[in-house]
Amino acid sequence: MHETQRDSLINKVVLVTGAGAGIGKAIAERFAEVGGKVVVNDVNADGVDAVVAGITDGGGEAMGAVADVSNADEVQAMIDQTMAAHGRIDVLVNNAGLVSPMLHFFEADEAWWRRIIDVNLTGHFIVSHPTARIMAKQGGGVITNMSSGGATRAHRAFTAYDATKGGIEALTRAMALDLGPYNIRVNALMPGSIDTSGLDEDQRILRGENVPLGRIGEAADMTGAALFLASDDASYITGDVIRIDGGMLSQQRSATVDIKPPSDFPKVEDL
Ligand SMILES: NC(=O)c1ccc[n+]([C@@H]2O[C@H](COP(=O)([O-])OP(=O)(O)OC[C@H]3O[C@@H](n4cnc5c(N)ncnc54)[C@H](O)[C@@H]3O)[C@@H](O)[C@H]2O)c1
Repeated sequence: MHETQRDSLINKVVLVTGAGAGIGKAIAERFAEVGGKVVVNDVNADGVDAVVAGITDGGGEAMGAVADVSNADEVQAMIDQTMAAHGRIDVLVNNAGLVSPMLHFFEADEAWWRRIIDVNLTGHFIVSHPTARIMAKQGGGVITNMSSGGATRAHRAFTAYDATKGGIEALTRAMALDLGPYNIRVNALMPGSIDTSGLDEDQRILRGENVPLGRIGEAADMTGAALFLASDDASYITGDVIRIDGGMLSQQRSATVDIKPPSDFPKVEDL
């Protein structure tokens, strides 16, 4: 990582939601690695404890904050806990999200729809609202939301999820406009296919074949862009979405069914 990026993140108070596992965990660990004071949020207390212990055992600074991002009272308690410990919040990564259960449109019901909207989309609002107020009072901050390729191109059996991700990209732009005058930058990350569920090797290869870079993503692949957006090197970037998807959204057809598949590409030794 570039030194100016690293330097601008030292001692920053960074709240990462849904950081008890997966992408959020990797982002929290990476911020701690560059000297951030990380607040590890998750609804799953065991996940929080494990991630905090991992960071502090490695010499980093972290505290846990168990809260459901869709519950305003629990979120306010988490913010109060963070402010009592650090007195400020410099960076918020709104990562918490429900990927499942996946249901076909005809299998779905209103309770399913509302729960996914509540956690994924309303959760972004509920955590950002008090946090942005604190950031405005302290002179600025950075909020990074978590979109998905589903915001642009749909997944089958993911109607509610994809709707939340489209909403998150629209929310990101709208927040960027309202919060820009308060020196708060708001952007989104857009992961492609990231293996956070421990796929077996055959599934990893299969999923990787449909990615232009030829492999499935890892949670660690998400961390560079998260740090960049929070750093001073991104000081003029707001309202934007960064795709971290190995090129997936750039392709019309997946590699396995394309007219000229990568297996027919010129061999390096023949160039
Ligand atoms: N993995 C991917 O391929 C992928 C692709 C696109 C987008 N994303 C997005 O990235 C984010 C993280 O995904 P992941 O793959 O790491 O998922 P994950 O399921 O591995 O981790 C999500 C974490 O969020 C927590 N969480 C769930 N509901 C919560 C709530 N109400 N309050 C607080 N924490 C809660 C879970 O306990 C879990 O620890 C999500 O927003 C997801 O939509 C992931």
